[in-house]
Amino acid sequence: MKSICVIGSLNVDMVAAVERFPQPGETLTADGYSIYFGGKGGNQAIALGKLGANVKMVGKVGDDIHGHDYIRHLRMNGVDVSGIHTEKGAATGTAMIWVDRQGENQIVVSPGANGCMQTSDIDAMWEELVQSDLFLFQLEIPIGTVAYAVKRLKQAGKTIVLDPAPASQLPEAIFRYIDYMTPNETEVRYYAGKQDRYVYQLKEAAGSLIRRGVGTVIAKAGENGAYLIRDAELSHIDAYPTQAIDTTGAGDSFNAGFAYALASGFEVNEAVRIGNAVGALSVRQVGAQSAMPTREELDRFLETYRRGIKQ
Ligand code: RIB
Repeated sequence: MKSICVIGSLNVDMVAAVERFPQPGETLTADGYSIYFGGKGGNQAIALGKLGANVKMVGKVGDDIHGHDYIRHLRMNGVDVSGIHTEKGAATGTAMIWVDRQGENQIVVSPGANGCMQTSDIDAMWEELVQSDLFLFQLEIPIGTVAYAVKRLKQAGKTIVLDPAPASQLPEAIFRYIDYMTPNETEVRYYAGKQDRYVYQLKEAAGSLIRRGVGTVIAKAGENGAYLIRDAELSHIDAYPTQAIDTTGAGDSFNAGFAYALASGFEVNEAVRIGNAVGALSVRQVGAQSAMPTREELDRFLETYRRGIKQ
């Protein structure tokens, strides 16, 4: 199996369960409140660790109790933490999250130590980094650092998966170094520069990313599964039915399942299907990482659906 490296964010998620989202100026009473480990990078690394992948996390935590706890948590879930550095004087990244009764969320992130990831950190870790084969990025560390690392690693012959979330302005030069880009439907349109879903179709939007140099676009569509767009072809891969309690981290789980399958030698269509399954399993409990499956849980789930039995 190929080795995987996640370069990205580590957050502490402060999650309030609410009946509905507050209006501007409104105060609501939450149904409950909990603290979880999160951050798009950390979520992807934990999901990969639980699946049994050979995975390393590269990122920064603050010099606080959350940072120390997060490193221990990653290690306990099978993630190589040698690429995580503690940033003196910074707080660990924090996400304030509301989850409503339909499992939908609203998130505000304070980057903290994630914002301190510099290109010089990539240079300092270079010899260690090039030991991995497949790289997963998101956009919760400085974009300049992502662009720099993506270009250097691609030129070193590595496979690059970019989850372009949260939607952010990217330098034009980055697109040609991306093998797989995994936006959600809204993000595809954002990067194509078209916001109106009715007049601008998904295939055209993904096509504009491919014309700019992206190898393959996988548009995540939640309960509608995912769309795979490469060359001039678009195919749809169904979602698995699931009971969504909290969709936070579902996209991260998809990415981890997808990368895990690619690293295991599966073909892209099958890797998307496995990504869909990991995403479906991950939404069944509150907290981005709480319901991420182990390899055995994933196998049982896939087997169930191959036999056509609903869980
Ligand atoms: O993708 C979900 C993640 O986004 C949360 O865990 C939160 O930390 C934000 O980064």
